Amino acid sequence: MISLNQVTKEFPGKIAVNELTFEVERGEFCVIIGPSGCGKSTTLRMINRLIPVSAGSITLDGVDIYNYRPEELRRQIGYAIQSVGLFPHMTVARNIGIVPQLMNWDMSKIRRRTDELLDLLNLDPGVYRDQYPRQLSGGEAQRVGVARALAADPAILLMDEPFGAIDPITRESLQTEFARIQKELKKTIVFVTHDIDEAIRIATRILVLKDGKLVQHDTPENIMTAPAGRFVTEFIGTDRALKRLSRLPAVNYMKEAPNVRESDPLQSAAGLIAEHRYLWVLAHDGKVLGWLDENSLKSGEQTAGLAMTSLDFRMSAVVTDSTLKEALSRMVQQGIRSAPVVDMKGVLLGEIRMGDILEA
Ligand SMILES: Nc1ncnc2c1ncn2[C@@H]1O[C@H](COP(=O)(O)OP(=O)(O)OP(=O)(O)O)[C@@H](O)[C@H]1O
Ligand SMILES: [Mg+2]
Repeated sequence: MISLNQVTKEFPGKIAVNELTFEVERGEFCVIIGPSGCGKSTTLRMINRLIPVSAGSITLDGVDIYNYRPEELRRQIGYAIQSVGLFPHMTVARNIGIVPQLMNWDMSKIRRRTDELLDLLNLDPGVYRDQYPRQLSGGEAQRVGVARALAADPAILLMDEPFGAIDPITRESLQTEFARIQKELKKTIVFVTHDIDEAIRIATRILVLKDGKLVQHDTPENIMTAPAGRFVTEFIGTDRALKRLSRLPAVNYMKEAPNVRESDPLQSAAGLIAEHRYLWVLAHDGKVLGWLDENSLKSGEQTAGLAMTSLDFRMSAVVTDSTLKEALSRMVQQGIRSAPVVDMKGVLLGEIRMGDILEA
Protein backbone atom coordinates (compact mmCIF):
# COMPACT_ATOMS: atom_id res chain seq x y z
CA MET A 1 0.00 0.00 0.00
CA ILE A 2 2.97 2.36 0.62
CA SER A 3 5.40 2.23 -2.24
CA LEU A 4 8.67 4.12 -2.67
CA ASN A 5 10.16 4.07 -6.11
CA GLN A 6 13.78 5.26 -6.62
CA VAL A 7 13.29 7.96 -4.00
CA THR A 8 16.20 10.34 -3.48
CA LYS A 9 16.55 13.25 -1.07
CA GLU A 10 19.37 15.65 -1.60
CA PHE A 11 20.14 18.39 0.90
CA PRO A 12 22.74 20.99 -0.02
CA GLY A 13 25.99 19.03 -0.13
CA LYS A 14 24.41 15.84 1.24
CA ILE A 15 22.46 12.96 -0.27
CA ALA A 16 20.37 11.81 2.69
CA VAL A 17 18.33 9.16 0.85
CA ASN A 18 19.69 7.53 -2.26
CA GLU A 19 17.42 5.82 -4.83
CA LEU A 20 15.41 4.01 -2.21
CA THR A 21 12.83 1.49 -3.41
CA PHE A 22 10.61 -0.57 -1.12
CA GLU A 23 6.99 -1.44 -0.42
CA VAL A 24 5.03 -1.78 2.78
CA GLU A 25 1.96 -3.98 2.51
CA ARG A 26 -1.29 -3.25 4.31
CA GLY A 27 -1.15 -4.40 7.94
CA GLU A 28 2.61 -4.77 7.91
CA PHE A 29 4.79 -3.58 10.77
CA CYS A 30 7.85 -2.31 8.91
CA VAL A 31 10.79 -1.21 11.01
CA ILE A 32 13.48 0.98 9.45
CA ILE A 33 16.80 0.58 11.18
CA GLY A 34 20.31 1.87 10.65
CA PRO A 35 22.99 4.04 12.21
CA SER A 36 22.54 7.71 13.00
CA GLY A 37 22.35 9.87 9.89
CA CYS A 38 21.51 7.02 7.48
CA GLY A 39 18.27 8.70 6.36
CA LYS A 40 15.58 7.08 8.50
CA SER A 41 13.77 10.23 9.62
CA THR A 42 14.15 11.80 6.18
CA THR A 43 12.42 8.76 4.67
CA LEU A 44 9.45 9.05 7.06
CA ARG A 45 9.13 12.78 6.51
CA MET A 46 8.98 12.29 2.76
CA ILE A 47 6.17 9.76 3.14
CA ASN A 48 3.92 12.29 4.87
CA ARG A 49 5.17 15.19 2.75
CA LEU A 50 6.79 17.10 5.58
CA ILE A 51 9.72 17.40 3.17
CA PRO A 52 9.58 17.06 -0.62
CA VAL A 53 11.41 14.32 -2.51
CA SER A 54 14.26 15.37 -4.80
CA ALA A 55 13.63 12.53 -7.24
CA GLY A 56 11.54 9.39 -7.50
CA SER A 57 7.95 8.83 -6.41
CA ILE A 58 5.93 7.69 -3.40
CA THR A 59 2.45 6.21 -3.75
CA LEU A 60 -0.30 5.23 -1.31
CA ASP A 61 -2.58 2.55 -2.70
CA GLY A 62 -1.16 3.31 -6.13
CA VAL A 63 -1.87 7.07 -5.94
CA ASP A 64 1.05 9.51 -5.90
CA ILE A 65 1.15 11.29 -2.53
CA TYR A 66 1.35 14.62 -4.36
CA ASN A 67 -2.06 13.91 -5.85
CA TYR A 68 -3.70 13.91 -2.40
CA ARG A 69 -4.83 17.11 -0.73
CA PRO A 70 -2.69 17.69 2.37
CA GLU A 71 -5.64 17.21 4.74
CA GLU A 72 -6.56 13.96 3.03
CA LEU A 73 -3.03 12.73 3.58
CA ARG A 74 -3.06 13.84 7.21
CA ARG A 75 -6.25 11.89 7.85
CA GLN A 76 -4.70 8.73 6.48
CA ILE A 77 -1.33 9.05 8.16
CA GLY A 78 -0.65 9.41 11.89
CA TYR A 79 2.80 10.59 12.90
CA ALA A 80 4.60 10.18 16.23
CA ILE A 81 8.05 11.63 16.79
CA GLN A 82 10.83 10.93 19.22
CA SER A 83 10.68 14.29 20.95
CA VAL A 84 6.91 13.69 21.38
CA GLY A 85 6.16 17.31 20.49
CA LEU A 86 3.12 17.74 22.76
CA PHE A 87 1.87 21.31 22.98
CA PRO A 88 2.77 22.41 26.51
CA HIS A 89 -0.15 24.79 26.95
CA MET A 90 -2.74 22.17 26.04
CA THR A 91 -4.07 19.38 28.24
CA VAL A 92 -3.47 15.73 27.35
CA ALA A 93 -7.01 15.47 25.97
CA ARG A 94 -6.62 18.53 23.74
CA ASN A 95 -3.26 17.31 22.49
CA ILE A 96 -4.78 13.98 21.50
CA GLY A 97 -7.79 15.66 19.89
CA ILE A 98 -5.85 17.96 17.59
CA VAL A 99 -6.36 16.12 14.30
CA PRO A 100 -10.00 15.17 14.98
CA GLN A 101 -10.64 18.83 15.76
CA LEU A 102 -9.02 19.90 12.50
CA MET A 103 -11.37 17.42 10.85
CA ASN A 104 -14.35 19.05 12.56
CA TRP A 105 -15.48 16.10 14.65
CA ASP A 106 -18.07 17.12 17.25
CA MET A 107 -16.85 17.60 20.80
CA SER A 108 -18.54 14.56 22.33
CA LYS A 109 -17.07 12.28 19.70
CA ILE A 110 -13.59 13.70 20.30
CA ARG A 111 -14.02 13.20 24.03
CA ARG A 112 -15.09 9.56 23.57
CA ARG A 113 -12.20 8.90 21.24
CA THR A 114 -9.68 10.52 23.58
CA ASP A 115 -10.79 8.43 26.55
CA GLU A 116 -10.81 5.28 24.44
CA LEU A 117 -7.20 5.93 23.37
CA LEU A 118 -6.03 6.73 26.89
CA ASP A 119 -7.53 3.42 27.99
CA LEU A 120 -5.84 1.61 25.12
CA LEU A 121 -2.46 2.95 26.20
CA ASN A 122 -3.08 2.14 29.86
CA LEU A 123 -3.45 5.72 31.01
CA ASP A 124 -6.50 6.17 33.23
CA PRO A 125 -8.57 8.90 31.51
CA GLY A 126 -9.85 10.15 34.87
CA VAL A 127 -6.29 10.81 35.97
CA TYR A 128 -4.60 11.96 32.77
CA ARG A 129 -7.23 13.65 30.60
CA ASP A 130 -6.81 17.09 32.15
CA GLN A 131 -3.12 17.00 32.97
CA TYR A 132 -0.56 19.15 31.20
CA PRO A 133 2.50 17.66 29.44
CA ARG A 134 4.91 18.98 32.11
CA GLN A 135 3.08 16.81 34.70
CA LEU A 136 3.84 13.61 32.76
CA SER A 137 6.81 11.28 32.97
CA GLY A 138 8.76 10.67 29.74
CA GLY A 139 7.03 7.33 29.21
CA GLU A 140 3.56 8.79 29.81
CA ALA A 141 4.26 11.65 27.42
CA GLN A 142 5.35 9.21 24.73
CA ARG A 143 2.15 7.23 25.20
CA VAL A 144 0.17 10.41 24.74
CA GLY A 145 2.21 11.08 21.59
CA VAL A 146 1.24 7.64 20.29
CA ALA A 147 -2.43 8.20 21.26
CA ARG A 148 -2.36 11.47 19.33
CA ALA A 149 -0.98 9.72 16.26
CA LEU A 150 -3.83 7.19 16.47
CA ALA A 151 -6.57 9.75 17.17
CA ALA A 152 -8.22 10.08 13.78
CA ASP A 153 -7.89 6.33 13.24
CA PRO A 154 -5.44 6.65 10.35
CA ALA A 155 -4.74 3.57 8.26
CA ILE A 156 -1.02 4.35 8.37
CA LEU A 157 1.23 5.22 11.29
CA LEU A 158 4.68 6.69 10.89
CA MET A 159 6.65 6.48 14.11
CA ASP A 160 10.08 7.98 14.53
CA GLU A 161 11.72 6.43 17.60
CA PRO A 162 8.52 6.88 19.58
CA PHE A 163 9.97 5.00 22.55
CA GLY A 164 13.40 6.56 22.30
CA ALA A 165 13.32 8.59 25.50
CA ILE A 166 12.08 5.81 27.75
CA ASP A 167 14.05 3.68 30.21
CA PRO A 168 14.65 0.08 29.06
CA ILE A 169 12.08 -1.61 31.30
CA THR A 170 9.16 0.70 30.52
CA ARG A 171 10.30 0.54 26.95
CA GLU A 172 10.02 -3.23 26.74
CA SER A 173 6.54 -3.15 28.19
CA LEU A 174 5.51 -0.41 25.76
CA GLN A 175 6.90 -2.44 22.86
CA THR A 176 4.91 -5.47 23.92
CA GLU A 177 1.81 -3.36 24.42
CA PHE A 178 2.27 -1.73 21.07
CA ALA A 179 2.72 -5.01 19.23
CA ARG A 180 -0.58 -6.07 20.82
CA ILE A 181 -2.30 -2.84 19.81
CA GLN A 182 -1.04 -3.32 16.27
CA LYS A 183 -2.53 -6.82 16.13
CA GLU A 184 -5.83 -5.43 17.37
CA LEU A 185 -6.02 -2.37 15.15
CA LYS A 186 -4.29 -3.80 12.05
CA LYS A 187 -2.59 -0.53 11.11
CA THR A 188 0.13 -0.27 8.51
CA ILE A 189 3.14 0.93 10.45
CA VAL A 190 6.51 2.32 9.46
CA PHE A 191 8.58 2.57 12.59
CA VAL A 192 12.09 3.99 12.94
CA THR A 193 14.56 2.84 15.53
CA HIS A 194 18.24 2.17 15.91
CA ASP A 195 17.64 -0.48 18.53
CA ILE A 196 17.92 -3.91 16.89
CA ASP A 197 16.28 -5.65 19.87
CA GLU A 198 13.28 -3.39 19.49
CA ALA A 199 13.14 -4.07 15.74
CA ILE A 200 13.25 -7.83 16.21
CA ARG A 201 10.63 -7.73 18.91
CA ILE A 202 7.97 -5.82 17.01
CA ALA A 203 8.62 -5.91 13.25
CA THR A 204 7.03 -8.13 10.65
CA ARG A 205 9.65 -6.82 8.24
CA ILE A 206 12.88 -4.95 8.80
CA LEU A 207 14.51 -2.54 6.41
CA VAL A 208 18.20 -1.87 7.01
CA LEU A 209 19.57 1.43 5.71
CA LYS A 210 23.15 2.56 5.34
CA ASP A 211 24.15 5.96 3.93
CA GLY A 212 20.67 6.47 2.52
CA LYS A 213 20.70 3.15 0.68
CA LEU A 214 18.76 -0.04 1.24
CA VAL A 215 21.00 -2.85 2.49
CA GLN A 216 18.42 -5.50 3.36
CA HIS A 217 14.63 -5.72 3.50
CA ASP A 218 13.47 -8.93 5.08
CA THR A 219 11.67 -10.68 7.93
CA PRO A 220 13.31 -10.47 11.38
CA GLU A 221 13.97 -14.20 11.14
CA ASN A 222 15.91 -13.86 7.88
CA ILE A 223 17.77 -10.77 9.03
CA MET A 224 18.97 -12.79 12.01
CA THR A 225 19.75 -16.00 10.18
CA ALA A 226 20.85 -14.65 6.80
CA PRO A 227 22.16 -11.11 7.25
CA ALA A 228 23.12 -9.51 3.93
CA GLY A 229 26.81 -8.97 4.40
CA ARG A 230 29.11 -7.70 7.09
CA PHE A 231 27.36 -4.43 7.74
CA VAL A 232 24.11 -6.14 8.76
CA THR A 233 25.93 -8.84 10.70
CA GLU A 234 27.81 -6.26 12.71
CA PHE A 235 24.77 -4.12 13.14
CA ILE A 236 22.77 -7.02 14.55
CA GLY A 237 25.59 -7.80 16.95
CA THR A 238 25.08 -11.52 17.42
CA ASP A 239 26.19 -11.52 21.02
CA ARG A 240 23.52 -8.98 21.87
CA ALA A 241 20.78 -11.22 20.57
CA LEU A 242 22.35 -14.18 22.30
CA LYS A 243 22.54 -12.24 25.52
CA ARG A 244 18.80 -11.95 25.41
CA LEU A 245 18.31 -15.62 24.73
CA SER A 246 20.47 -16.40 27.70
CA ARG A 247 17.85 -14.80 29.93
CA LEU A 248 15.04 -17.05 28.72
CA PRO A 249 14.47 -20.51 30.23
CA ALA A 250 14.15 -23.10 27.48
CA VAL A 251 11.43 -24.99 29.32
CA ASN A 252 9.03 -22.07 28.81
CA TYR A 253 9.28 -22.69 25.08
CA MET A 254 9.05 -26.47 25.18
CA LYS A 255 6.57 -28.12 22.82
CA GLU A 256 5.29 -31.66 22.60
CA ALA A 257 7.79 -33.72 20.60
CA PRO A 258 6.53 -36.18 17.96
CA ASN A 259 8.11 -39.60 18.56
CA VAL A 260 8.06 -43.34 17.91
CA ARG A 261 9.72 -46.32 19.64
CA GLU A 262 12.76 -47.92 18.07
CA SER A 263 10.91 -51.22 17.59
CA ASP A 264 7.98 -49.59 15.74
CA PRO A 265 7.71 -50.53 12.04
CA LEU A 266 9.24 -47.78 9.91
CA GLN A 267 6.06 -47.51 7.83
CA SER A 268 4.04 -46.56 10.89
CA ALA A 269 6.16 -43.40 11.16
CA ALA A 270 5.42 -42.16 7.63
CA GLY A 271 2.26 -40.24 8.54
CA LEU A 272 3.90 -38.44 11.45
CA ILE A 273 6.95 -37.56 9.36
CA ALA A 274 4.72 -36.10 6.66
CA GLU A 275 3.07 -33.99 9.36
CA HIS A 276 6.13 -32.91 11.39
CA ARG A 277 9.01 -33.41 8.89
CA TYR A 278 10.91 -35.41 11.53
CA LEU A 279 10.33 -37.64 14.56
CA TRP A 280 12.35 -38.57 17.59
CA VAL A 281 13.09 -42.25 18.08
CA LEU A 282 12.97 -43.50 21.67
CA ALA A 283 14.16 -46.62 23.47
CA HIS A 284 11.65 -48.64 25.51
CA ASP A 285 12.44 -46.60 28.60
CA GLY A 286 11.79 -43.31 26.75
CA LYS A 287 15.44 -42.36 26.19
CA VAL A 288 16.17 -40.44 23.00
CA LEU A 289 18.21 -42.49 20.54
CA GLY A 290 17.93 -40.57 17.28
CA TRP A 291 15.57 -39.12 14.72
CA LEU A 292 13.81 -39.96 11.46
CA ASP A 293 12.98 -37.78 8.49
CA GLU A 294 11.82 -38.28 4.91
CA ASN A 295 15.19 -39.69 3.88
CA SER A 296 15.00 -42.36 6.58
CA LEU A 297 11.79 -43.61 4.97
CA LYS A 298 13.76 -44.41 1.81
CA SER A 299 16.30 -46.54 3.71
CA GLY A 300 14.35 -49.74 3.13
CA GLU A 301 14.82 -50.75 6.79
CA GLN A 302 12.02 -52.48 8.71
CA THR A 303 12.02 -50.63 12.03
CA ALA A 304 12.41 -47.07 13.19
CA GLY A 305 15.50 -48.01 15.19
CA LEU A 306 17.34 -49.37 12.14
CA ALA A 307 16.42 -46.45 9.88
CA MET A 308 17.13 -43.61 12.30
CA THR A 309 20.03 -41.18 12.42
CA SER A 310 21.54 -41.70 15.86
CA LEU A 311 22.24 -38.90 18.24
CA ASP A 312 23.98 -38.62 21.56
CA PHE A 313 21.60 -36.84 23.89
CA ARG A 314 24.52 -35.44 25.90
CA MET A 315 25.59 -33.50 22.80
CA SER A 316 22.25 -32.60 21.26
CA ALA A 317 19.63 -32.39 23.97
CA VAL A 318 18.92 -29.74 26.57
CA VAL A 319 17.65 -30.20 30.10
CA THR A 320 14.81 -28.40 31.82
CA ASP A 321 16.95 -25.67 33.32
CA SER A 322 18.85 -24.86 30.11
CA THR A 323 18.39 -21.46 28.54
CA LEU A 324 17.28 -20.74 24.99
CA LYS A 325 20.85 -19.71 24.21
CA GLU A 326 22.05 -23.18 25.15
CA ALA A 327 19.29 -24.77 23.09
CA LEU A 328 20.27 -22.68 20.09
CA SER A 329 23.94 -23.47 20.39
CA ARG A 330 23.12 -27.22 20.48
CA MET A 331 21.08 -26.86 17.31
CA VAL A 332 23.82 -24.95 15.54
CA GLN A 333 26.55 -27.39 16.62
CA GLN A 334 24.53 -30.43 15.62
CA GLY A 335 22.90 -28.93 12.53
CA ILE A 336 19.35 -29.66 13.72
CA ARG A 337 16.23 -27.45 13.55
CA SER A 338 14.94 -28.53 16.94
CA ALA A 339 16.53 -29.80 20.14
CA PRO A 340 15.04 -32.54 22.32
CA VAL A 341 14.48 -31.67 25.98
CA VAL A 342 15.39 -34.57 28.26
CA ASP A 343 15.64 -35.35 31.94
CA MET A 344 18.95 -36.33 33.53
CA LYS A 345 18.60 -39.91 32.23
CA GLY A 346 17.96 -38.82 28.65
CA VAL A 347 14.19 -39.46 28.70
CA LEU A 348 12.37 -37.25 26.20
CA LEU A 349 10.17 -34.55 27.76
CA GLY A 350 9.55 -32.31 24.74
CA GLU A 351 11.43 -30.23 22.22
CA ILE A 352 12.56 -26.67 21.51
CA ARG A 353 12.10 -25.46 17.96
CA MET A 354 14.33 -23.02 16.08
CA GLY A 355 11.30 -20.99 15.00
CA ASP A 356 10.21 -20.50 18.61
CA ILE A 357 13.69 -19.33 19.59
CA LEU A 358 13.75 -16.78 16.81
CA GLU A 359 10.33 -15.56 17.88
CA ALA A 360 11.47 -15.29 21.46
N1 LIG B 1 17.24 19.79 6.77
C1 LIG B 1 18.43 19.24 6.52
N2 LIG B 1 19.42 19.92 5.91
C2 LIG B 1 20.61 19.38 5.64
N3 LIG B 1 20.93 18.11 5.93
C3 LIG B 1 20.00 17.36 6.55
C4 LIG B 1 18.70 17.88 6.88
N4 LIG B 1 18.00 16.90 7.49
C5 LIG B 1 18.82 15.83 7.54
N5 LIG B 1 20.02 16.09 6.98
C6 LIG B 1 21.13 15.18 6.84
O1 LIG B 1 20.67 14.01 6.17
C7 LIG B 1 21.21 12.83 6.74
C8 LIG B 1 20.09 11.92 7.17
O2 LIG B 1 19.38 12.52 8.23
P1 LIG B 1 18.21 11.76 9.01
O3 LIG B 1 17.64 12.73 9.98
O4 LIG B 1 17.28 11.18 8.02
O5 LIG B 1 19.02 10.61 9.75
P2 LIG B 1 18.48 9.48 10.73
O6 LIG B 1 18.77 8.17 10.09
O7 LIG B 1 17.08 9.75 11.13
O8 LIG B 1 19.48 9.65 11.97
P3 LIG B 1 19.20 9.54 13.57
O9 LIG B 1 19.24 8.09 13.90
O10 LIG B 1 20.36 10.26 14.15
O11 LIG B 1 17.88 10.19 13.86
C9 LIG B 1 22.09 13.30 7.88
O12 LIG B 1 23.42 13.32 7.43
C10 LIG B 1 21.60 14.70 8.19
O13 LIG B 1 22.64 15.50 8.66
MG1 LIG C 1 16.16 10.38 12.94
